[in-house]
Amino acid sequence: MHVKYIAGFLAILFAVMVFTSCKNAGGEYPGDEFTHDMIHSRAWETYAIMPGMPDSMSAIMPVKGSVPYPGNPVSGWQADSIEMNTNLPYTYAPTIEDYERAGIEVKSPLNQKDLKVLEQGQYYFQIYCSICHGAAGDGKGFIVTEGKYKAPPPSYYAEGYIDMPDGKMFHSVTYGKGAMQPYSWALNPMDRWKVIAYINSMQENFIAKGGDVTAAPADTTATTASDTTATAQATK
Ligand code: HEC
Repeated sequence: MHVKYIAGFLAILFAVMVFTSCKNAGGEYPGDEFTHDMIHSRAWETYAIMPGMPDSMSAIMPVKGSVPYPGNPVSGWQADSIEMNTNLPYTYAPTIEDYERAGIEVKSPLNQKDLKVLEQGQYYFQIYCSICHGAAGDGKGFIVTEGKYKAPPPSYYAEGYIDMPDGKMFHSVTYGKGAMQPYSWALNPMDRWKVIAYINSMQENFIAKGGDVTAAPADTTATTASDTTATAQATK
């Protein structure tokens, strides 16, 4: 009888001890870990000799084609390559403040005079943009002239657009602007910059020709057979 009580008392005492010992880490008490080895991996010095690793060294080389992440992609940072620059995430938020900031800080990583860049920019422009903005960039795309689209886009040659900073254009094409949807689903950053280079070339052409919007958009009309076909299809 007594033994039973004592055993019961001890069992309760044991349970109380077990539960009161379960407390959160804090102060001097680091907490208990039951899988210490899994929580804390064994530390190696960065460049220590480590048998079994590819170069017998604890540090291994990044996978071929890895893109280094040096910080902010576009603002002020000069990336080593254009690919690297355009692969980095665009860190500006879709807000008016960041739109303004992008206009000042975000610069095109491309050589905007490069004919290949302009050709490809024209190609994408005619596929995605000319239906609204017009092949000539005057805002008279066919869905506008046919009265199907009730929010006519501005002419790229209008005041406020002719000298629009590249960063603002990039921001608007990335996130959309007013009635215009974003184009980040269709154009990767590199292609967006190509389109912007093409818009700039049309604007320069407009100024050079004394403001004749109906003139050929740019002197970069695709010359290769495949490009002209694609262009012809896109403008239909
Ligand atoms: C469905 C019609 C439509 C298409 C397609 C379209 N846009 Fe627009 N775009 C607009 C309208 C409308 C505006 C005016 C938006 C506003 O300010 O409210 C605009 C404005 C712009 C602006 C000025 C942005 C600013 O910050 O004020 C740029 C640059 C631009 N578009 C570039 C493009 C490019 C590049 C493409 C193709 C990738 C494109 N758009 C496709 C309708 C369109």
